Amino acid sequence: MCGIVGYIGEKPATAVLLDGLQKLEYRGYDSSGIAVLDHSHHLHISKRSGKIQNLVKSIHQFHWPQSCYIGIGHTRWATHGQPTDENAHPHLDCSGTIAVVHNGIIENYHELKQHLQKQGHIFKSQTDTEVLVHLLEAEARHNAWPQAVGEALKKVRGTYSLVILNQKDPHHLIGVRKGGGGLVIGMGKQAMFIASDVSALLGHTHQVFYLDDGEMIILEKQAYQVMDWETQKLRLKQLLTIEWTPQQAEKGGYAHFMLKEIMEQSKAMEDTLRGRIDAAGNTQLVELSKINLKFLKTFHRIVILACGTSYYAGLVGKFIFEDILKIPVEIDYASEFRYRDPVVDAHDLVLAISQSGETVDTLVAIREAKSKKSKTMAICNVLGSSITREADAVLLTRAGPEIGVASTKAFTTQVAAIWLLALELARLRRTPTVSRRLQMGRHLLKMPIYIEQTLQALRKTIKPLAQRFSRYDHFLYLGRGINYPIALEGALKLKEISYIHAEGYPAGEMKHGPIALIDSQFPVVVLALKSSRYYEKIISNIEQVRARSGPVIGILEKNDSLGQQKVNFFIEIPTIEESFSPMISILPLQLLAYEIAVILGREIDQPRNLAKSVTVE
Ligand code: G6P
Repeated sequence: MCGIVGYIGEKPATAVLLDGLQKLEYRGYDSSGIAVLDHSHHLHISKRSGKIQNLVKSIHQFHWPQSCYIGIGHTRWATHGQPTDENAHPHLDCSGTIAVVHNGIIENYHELKQHLQKQGHIFKSQTDTEVLVHLLEAEARHNAWPQAVGEALKKVRGTYSLVILNQKDPHHLIGVRKGGGGLVIGMGKQAMFIASDVSALLGHTHQVFYLDDGEMIILEKQAYQVMDWETQKLRLKQLLTIEWTPQQAEKGGYAHFMLKEIMEQSKAMEDTLRGRIDAAGNTQLVELSKINLKFLKTFHRIVILACGTSYYAGLVGKFIFEDILKIPVEIDYASEFRYRDPVVDAHDLVLAISQSGETVDTLVAIREAKSKKSKTMAICNVLGSSITREADAVLLTRAGPEIGVASTKAFTTQVAAIWLLALELARLRRTPTVSRRLQMGRHLLKMPIYIEQTLQALRKTIKPLAQRFSRYDHFLYLGRGINYPIALEGALKLKEISYIHAEGYPAGEMKHGPIALIDSQFPVVVLALKSSRYYEKIISNIEQVRARSGPVIGILEKNDSLGQQKVNFFIEIPTIEESFSPMISILPLQLLAYEIAVILGREIDQPRNLAKSVTVE
């Protein structure tokens, strides 16, 4: 969702803030703005609808002070109010002295606004955020600063992260977090940074810590104080060292982050496996030591919780865990689980999967599971993120920063992490046989090579197919068994970045509905892998589509002459044991979606209406 950045230090603040906003643009990109103080403590503000480029241009066009040392910035994903200049953040109070940037939702903003309007506050925007700044102004009349912040927030209901700049307190920035939407603090030389996520800090510092729920931070150039904003009790924070480099968050010569991230998947997987599995196929996950061994050997069920692409990785996980461990696995959308008094208990391992570690529904779902005494574990890509701080144990995917809104390398590394976890639990629970477990481990180790070879081959073959199919309005994706989630993920990729309607379906279900849609204008992408136990059934499904004139694109294994005869077009991938195939079969679908979106001229890394990290409910 929205991206926040704040800076206090000796560098020119405007440049630091604009750079940070550009790094955070993938979080929301319908408008942006900054507010800074110059050395005479004058407040300057600029806000523009549209991409950050519009803000940069407007700052360059007008007389903008060079000598600013403190400021806040925001890139917006609209919740309340259209993406206009007025609704862009920062928002100012009536006197133009307090500026606020906000990520989250103020639930009681309507009643607060009415109350403040009665007191004479003039509102300029339709946002919920603006009530915050007027509330701060009202409270600052009766309370010293920064106590006024705590007093104002006591009146607010909702989840939020805020950064506040006050002209009357020109050497401090205040950050507050309640509920979703992380805030990370970066410690530089003679400088402090605050941002929604670490990508804004790369290049400035590797030393960071995160604010926890209910915390407020007062930042100075060389010091900080963290406290519980309700009780004012001081809190100690533990520093983390971030290993990501600024280069990892750049396009590195690729036209789009998404393509770079697709092509990085072999390396990302190699990094995810490194040190966790030996050449013989034996796993050793020190991460699991956070959970009692007896529990790991005896728990009854795995419950997987996630959203979006991570949910589909979890769905692949259901097949893997059930197949290897022979225990029941349930999977739920985190947004559904958290609201329905779920039946989980102390015998369950609840596994949250999240690239960002900040998806609020997944975060709250983990809390719900903990409140019911389940042990919780997270597969996550961002060290120190909220979900990693709340789960009992964490297995980090080491995919590096994922910037493209459509998730790619996070997905394949999540599946690899699921494999690692399944093999480790298999080792502890002594099931299946040692030789089968080690055989699977060695297979997993080969995945980076398979991925690399497949991607290199696909880059040449997908483009002409994309050209042929870019003008259709609807697509159906079909798969069976462990490749059914891949059909869902393939369809998601296409709709996310090309805006073409696409549905993923388990192939066996096609005859219960979607078949009614099939005609010559409804292409069907079918995952039909020859070595799959479902191959013959999938071939029948293809026949059913062809009988209704639906054009079929088959994802086939190499040298599958029967498959080639049955489909209209095909993409070849290597033959691989079925339970590992999702990490390969997703690759052509990622690239197909990408190439179609390129042909259609879409904003691939920042598709309309989407955001990388969803921190509102
Ligand atoms: C958003 C992103 C998706 C992502 C989903 C879950 O919808 O656009 O790419 O899969 O959130 O995010 P998470 O960070 O929890 O994996």
